Amino acid sequence: MTDAQRHDSNPRLDLREIYRPIERELETTTTTLRNSLRHGDPTLDGYLDYSFQLGGKRLRPALLLLAAQAWGRVEERCYLCAAALEMIHTGSLVHDDILDGARFRRHLETVNVKWDSHRAVLIGDLLITRAFDLICACDDSVIFRKVSNLCQATVEGELFQTNAIGNFNLTLDDYNVIVRGKTASLIECSTFLGGYLAGARDADLDDFARFGRMIGMAFQIFDDVLDLVGDERATGKTLGTDLANRKETLPMIRYFESLSDSEAETLRERLATDLTYVERVEIADEMRRSGAVEAACKDADALISDALQLLTRLEARGCALGRQVSSDAFASLAALARFVARRNI
Ligand code: FPP
Ligand code: MG
Repeated sequence: MTDAQRHDSNPRLDLREIYRPIERELETTTTTLRNSLRHGDPTLDGYLDYSFQLGGKRLRPALLLLAAQAWGRVEERCYLCAAALEMIHTGSLVHDDILDGARFRRHLETVNVKWDSHRAVLIGDLLITRAFDLICACDDSVIFRKVSNLCQATVEGELFQTNAIGNFNLTLDDYNVIVRGKTASLIECSTFLGGYLAGARDADLDDFARFGRMIGMAFQIFDDVLDLVGDERATGKTLGTDLANRKETLPMIRYFESLSDSEAETLRERLATDLTYVERVEIADEMRRSGAVEAACKDADALISDALQLLTRLEARGCALGRQVSSDAFASLAALARFVARRNI
């Protein structure tokens, strides 16, 4: 897929079309989310209202609801889980922006800039802990365990990445561990819970989870590409944070692979210095010219293509089992996977 195809139309309009099969269900989720973000204390309500505005594409709730509908049933607990996952997602981004020193997200000031880091830690905590109220209301130990494991996996991925700061010798396996933990675990949890609540079990449920994991990994790879070569006005968030914070991501791993041993050594020495903004832009340019950025996009495209094949098999199995599968919801899951590969927001 070329850069032009990646950015060929208005992604928000496309999303509205993709979300059409779950339009009503997403509205119910938004109401659940709004209600759970009401505290009663005016100061805390101010923090929670602002966090609600930080909400983006509602990708995780949409994946959960689409997975449930695809397998034939969206029940009440889907709304609780979808709202809870969105709150965990927002809470983790509030924390992430402190760690990355980011100044804006979704075209708004980050919580650490609007207030301060101290409050941002606590506001992120508030969001994540309130999400567990919703999960407890599901009264199901499978759901509880899955969401608590997902939180641990997210933190472990972030910790692995933190411990790898300044290490420009990361392997592909290292990178996969980071991305699977910090990003894919939440997206995997979304499709898992959708499938689970709709009654999917065993191999089918594993496939719902695998589908989410693959598009989650692709999502983070594109995010890492955008961090290097994206446009801040289009993404609405601070970019360039990976190089500035000395985090090695997939495009850099692919860049190192394209260099001779001596070129790689020179680059490592350069990366060990305090890089200026202009030097970071130069490095990103070199990476683009070397084909490393395109190579990382191809890695992500391969994940999307595997995810799409898996989805086709899953739909066929659902039909064979005599389930009331929704082909519209399956089509939207596929469209959402493709959307991940061309997002610029
Ligand atoms: C974005 O990465 C960050 C994440 C996907 C996860 C961050 C998670 C934490 C800080 C821990 C959260 C704690 C719990 C308990 C869940 P990025 O910086 O690459 O993406 P960005 O460009 O959107 O900032
Ligand atoms: Mg970040």
